[in-house]
Amino acid sequence: MKIRAGIIGVGCYLPSKRLTNADLEKMVDTTDEWITTRTGIKERRIASKNEAVSDLAIAAAKNALKDAKVKPEDLDLIIVATISPDMHFPSTACLVQKALGAKKALCFDVGAACAGFVYALSIAQQFIESGKTKKVLVIGAEMLSSITDWTDRNTCVLFGDGAGACVVTPVKRGGIISSYLGSDGSQSDLMMMPGGGSRHPASHQTINKKMHFIKMQGKELFKLAVNIMADAANKALKQAGLKCKDVDCVIPHQANIRILMAVAKKLGLPPEKIFLNIERYGNMSSASTATALCEAVRKGKIKKGDIVVLDAFGAGLVWGACVIRW
Ligand code: UT7
Repeated sequence: MKIRAGIIGVGCYLPSKRLTNADLEKMVDTTDEWITTRTGIKERRIASKNEAVSDLAIAAAKNALKDAKVKPEDLDLIIVATISPDMHFPSTACLVQKALGAKKALCFDVGAACAGFVYALSIAQQFIESGKTKKVLVIGAEMLSSITDWTDRNTCVLFGDGAGACVVTPVKRGGIISSYLGSDGSQSDLMMMPGGGSRHPASHQTINKKMHFIKMQGKELFKLAVNIMADAANKALKQAGLKCKDVDCVIPHQANIRILMAVAKKLGLPPEKIFLNIERYGNMSSASTATALCEAVRKGKIKKGDIVVLDAFGAGLVWGACVIRW
């Protein structure tokens, strides 16, 4: 019989400091009205000076392990999806392993930007289905405040910090029914952080040119996101033998409320089936889907037996959707 992977616990961590639209009005030429109507964001969380992304990831992980009643030492695998790691290497997953004392776990990071959590979950699913792995910790964690240009109104109003996690194991009932992933590197110039890698190693020049910050062509990404997210959800549902009308809750990447409402319309789903946390946290890349899943479960928006679709899109381009029977 086929082994099926399922989520048995969720957790998240959001830094306590809030940055509101009113705060941003004092920093750049923007208004609460513009940010609210164009994006749906009211405030975002910002990590403290002595926090790094692994700290956020560890806090979310502890939360998820507690929820799943799994001990760190029993973990076989830790996957962290992040584009804002503590450092290039070692991987953030190894730093999480050290802090948790998850001695026997295999650890690596996944770089799939805003689709990172869906990519990591799909990888976890395949490790479990192979029969070799029993307990996986999947984390989406970001500290986008550390790579945001706080003088650029086109981007700085959008991003925030946070982390979400889940524990994946073989399950007897329900679980991840299907997952669908895609990429299109021909569009890689639409969103990137150009500095700090081997192409443009850190130098005075890269700093002066602000190359260590997120660069984004928002308008172009917007149109692609709507079509690609709707298509990914449809493909994953088809693979699962289900239709849009069977869906109880969509947990999408939270880049822009207008994108999400357009995706809902394309899928023929009422807006209330789309779980939103963008108003409170902004776009947290891989952490958006991860924290939204955790909050939807905690708020009772997802119940046993529900059909849940995770749906994400981001820089790469990369995208993915997972269909889960909860
Ligand atoms: O995370 C996954 C990948 N990312 C995405 O999927 C992001 C998708 N894109 C978006 O969410 C939207 O394109 C944005 C929120 C980034 C921008 O919204 P938009 O409706 O596409 O605005 P725009 O870029 O077309 O800008 C419209 C106007 C411009 O002024 P002009 O040129 O028309 O005079 C901008 O300069 O709004 C101006 N603008 C602002 N005004 C006030 C841009 N940012 C701001 C701002 N406050 N913060």
